[in-house]
Amino acid sequence: MGKFITIHSYKGGTGKSYLAANLAVIYALQGKKVCLLDMDFRAPTLQIVFEPKNVKRYINDVLNSMANVEDGLVDCSNKIEGKGTLFVGFADFSSEAIRDMISKGKKWEAEALHRILSMRKEILERLKFDVCIADTSPGIQYSSINAVVAADVAVVVSTLDDSDIAGTSKMISELYEVFQKKTVVIINKAIGGIDFKDMEKAKIVDELQNKYKEAVIGILPCFCEVGRVKRAQIFAYNYPKHPFTETMRVIAAKLDLI
Ligand SMILES: Nc1ncnc2c1ncn2[C@@H]1O[C@H](COP(=O)(O)OP(=O)(O)OP(=O)(O)O)[C@@H](O)[C@H]1O
Ligand SMILES: [Mg+2]
Repeated sequence: MGKFITIHSYKGGTGKSYLAANLAVIYALQGKKVCLLDMDFRAPTLQIVFEPKNVKRYINDVLNSMANVEDGLVDCSNKIEGKGTLFVGFADFSSEAIRDMISKGKKWEAEALHRILSMRKEILERLKFDVCIADTSPGIQYSSINAVVAADVAVVVSTLDDSDIAGTSKMISELYEVFQKKTVVIINKAIGGIDFKDMEKAKIVDELQNKYKEAVIGILPCFCEVGRVKRAQIFAYNYPKHPFTETMRVIAAKLDLI
């Protein structure tokens, strides 16, 4: 059976959406049938990356029991020129929908958890996707926690910022460990401006692993060129030999083994 991977973080702007889209493309190019879900209902992003022409239903509709899962998935394989299979479930980015999702209470979220679990089952068992990657909102709000609960593997993206490291550690020990989730960490935007290859990589990974008590499966430096390229030009597809893409491929392979 396929795997459900949830990408989450304590703080905002760590690179979740960026890594989620690139990971999805890398897997699709390897021949996997890939589903990518925008579950950041507060600040949807994937519509900017994939520029879908015709979205009939959003993941919001699926969670509101107003649509079937397959109606909420858009074939975006054109983004990689048909070199793989990549479907994306978009989040409704209208202000009205964002306000609606923010105002949902505990009861709705508890019901939504059941719907996410059945959506996961549909995607992996009936529609037979090899991998489903969910992008989430930062922090410990219900919708993100639901996506973490549904995951086979939770990937926490953290920067090296002190407050991010402290928050991530707390979130992992207070939350992920309670759910007994398989959790891995990606450090992103590490050490801006320094050639990462010159650093004592092993030592840094060691320190971080001690801190997080979790497996750090990748460290990505801050690449200026990553920030310069438009989101719609998915980096891993357009720059397959760049160190960012190479590191993402190693991360993808490590996730395969979990
Ligand atoms: N390794 C990197 N080097 C340089 N820029 C990066 C890197 N990773 C991500 N970025 C940039 O960081 C910005 C934020 O990324 P992204 O939107 O993916 O973060 P996020 O965690 O999804 O944010 P949010 O919490 O708001 O959803 C983007 O402009 C992206 O291009
Ligand atoms: Mg995001």
